[in-house]
Parts: sequence; C-alpha cells; structure tokens
Amino acid sequence: MLVINARQVRELLPMKEAIEADKKAFLLHSAGQTEVPVRLGFDIPGRGSVLFMPAYVKGDVGSVGVKIVSVFPGNLAKGMTSVPAQVLLVDCETGVVNALMDGSEVTRVRTGAISGAATDILARYDASVGALFGTGGQAPAQLEAMLCARTLKEVRIFDLLPERIAPFIESNGELAEKYGAKLVAARSSDEAVDSADVITTVTTAKTPVFDGTRVKLGAHVNGVGSFLPTSRELDEKLLSRARVFVDNREAVLAEAGDFLIPAAGGAYDLNAIAGEIGDVLAGKLAGRTSDDEITVLKTVGFAVLDVVAARTIYENAVATGAGSEIDL
Ligand SMILES: NC(=O)c1ccc[n+]([C@@H]2O[C@H](COP(=O)([O-])OP(=O)(O)OC[C@H]3O[C@@H](n4cnc5c(N)ncnc54)[C@H](O)[C@@H]3O)[C@@H](O)[C@H]2O)c1
Repeated sequence: MLVINARQVRELLPMKEAIEADKKAFLLHSAGQTEVPVRLGFDIPGRGSVLFMPAYVKGDVGSVGVKIVSVFPGNLAKGMTSVPAQVLLVDCETGVVNALMDGSEVTRVRTGAISGAATDILARYDASVGALFGTGGQAPAQLEAMLCARTLKEVRIFDLLPERIAPFIESNGELAEKYGAKLVAARSSDEAVDSADVITTVTTAKTPVFDGTRVKLGAHVNGVGSFLPTSRELDEKLLSRARVFVDNREAVLAEAGDFLIPAAGGAYDLNAIAGEIGDVLAGKLAGRTSDDEITVLKTVGFAVLDVVAARTIYENAVATGAGSEIDL
C-alpha cells in the first residue's frame, strides 16, 4: 500500500490537473457512471463525529474509494486540526486497498478545482477582476483555481474578520503574482463585489455574505461554503437574477440553505435551477447563454470528486516513484 502525505498530495495534483480531474468526475456523474451512497456517520458523545464518504467510479478500470473525515472541535486545544481526513483507494482489479493519502489536502485541491472547473466553463473569457470571500483553510486553493481558470489582474479579498485579510494577502501574494494578479484588501463586501467578474464565497457564514443586487451583469459566482439546510452564503436576489447550476442536484437539495431557505419562504422556485455542471460539460445543457447573464455554481461536494482526484494522485505517484510503500 502506498502512503501519500499532504505535501506529496500537493505536488502530485497541481491545480490545473485537479480541474481536469473534477471535470472528468462531473462527466462520469452526468453519464450515470458513478455510485455514491449516502454518507454514513457516527456521533462520538462529547467529542465529535466520524463520517465515511464512499464512491464507486465506473469507466476505465474503475475506482472505489472512501474518505474518512471527522469533526472533533476539541482537537484545536490540542494543537491539532479539528477536521482530520484520510482517503483510502481500492484497486478494482484485486479489491486490495492500494493507497492511503492525506484527505484534507485532497479535499482542498478538489474543492478549489470545483470552482476552477465551473469558472472555466461558465465565466466570461474577458473576466479580469475576482473577489474572494473567506480567508480560511479552503481559501488558498479557491484563489489558485480562480487564477488558473481566467487571467485576472486583481482579486479582492474580504473576510468578516478584517484582521485575517492582510496575513492572507501576505502569504498568498506570491502565488497571485505568478499568475500576474494583484491581491487587494476589500474594506466591505460591497467593495469586494462591485464590478467583480468572478466571485467565490468560501466562508462559514450562516447568512448571505453579499448583496446579490450589486453583482455585475455577466459575472460568475461560485458558492462553496454553506452545506447545511439552515445556512447560506448567497441570497435569493442573486439567485433570481442568475442562471444557476449545481455540482450534484440531489446533494445540494438536501443540504444547501442557499436554496432551501428562500424556497421555504416562497422567495425561490427550486425548479429554476438550470441543472448540473456535468450536464453542461456533456453538452446536454447550455451553460452561459449571453454575455450579460449572471451565472452561479453552488457546490456542496460529493465523494466522486475525492475518488477521481485520489486516483489521479495515486497514478501520478506510481509514475514518479513518490509516496512510501508499506507492507501490512
Ligand atoms: N463545497 C465543498 O465541497 C466544500 C468542501 C470543503 C469545505 N467546504 C466548506 O467551505 C467553508 C470554508 O471552509 P474553511 O475550511 O476555509 O473554513 P475556515 O473556518 O478555515 O474559514 C472560514 C472563513 O470564513 C470567514 N467568514 C465567516 N463569515 C463570513 C462572512 N459573512 N463574510 C466573509 N467571511 C466570512 C471566517 O472569518 C473565516 O476566515 C466551510 O463551510 C466548509 O464546510 C465546502
């Protein structure tokens, strides 16, 4: 079994390749070539919860994998991550587990790549100004994905905690420079959104993070953060002005308050969701239909993305001799 640590995951799956891996996952999902059972979870009283996210991806030789991700808030006091994760990959020729890798890094890169793929497919080609809401653990990959998908000259950074913005710009400025972009601190959500062409929200907010009426015609928005029926980042004003896509309709309609909250109040019709991004890639559904259209991708993520990313990482590791082989 090959063990692949976080640093190796980062090296083995650069963002551009991760975007292509996510597109492949979306296409296979659209073609009915995936099986994703409901995730299984255990609550550990007083400590946290452990979730199992399995998927079977058909096509080629096939891939089966499971991400084990836990939420243990008390870990922070021990100087540990509160959301530890690992991915196990099973060889579909033999049924043997052939790889164990850092799941937090797989999550970060495949989640950034969701927005990267959606921006690549839906944003206007002449997009030049980005806006990023949130400067937490997921944010650097979201920034890189945005920069990979379009040639942006400026990305405005906004966080509810203003003291987080300057350190984020400090530690990600060099990355942005490599793509020819400048990071700029936004003093308000309005300042971040006004005239932005690509907007990504990756926050832990429970209520909308910007005013949807201010979004410029022709802009593209990636909603990444919210994943509970009671939380949302995007408001119904934005959704009702936009052509709206999702990564996985079933998962989003079970989890995303962005839709469920306004739908419950009669302010949004769930039938207005155009469809899944994989169907756009497969040519079954139109993506952007005019230069003035606002497009939105709402994602909550699903295990197929983890398995396709993990498979790509494993193949790259085998090809380059990376990782540590262990005998069980
Ligand atoms: N769609 C997916 O597949 C997927 C995958 C992984 C994580 N996520 C979600 O992404 C979100 C962010 O994850 P993270 O690890 O970066 O979290 P984090 O806790 O490290 O950072 C969250 C950031 O959001 C900021 N924030 C909160 N409310 C805000 C607001 N109203 N405006 C601007 N900034 C605000 C916080 O100050 C913080 O800097 C979480 O909700 C997580 O569950 C989604």
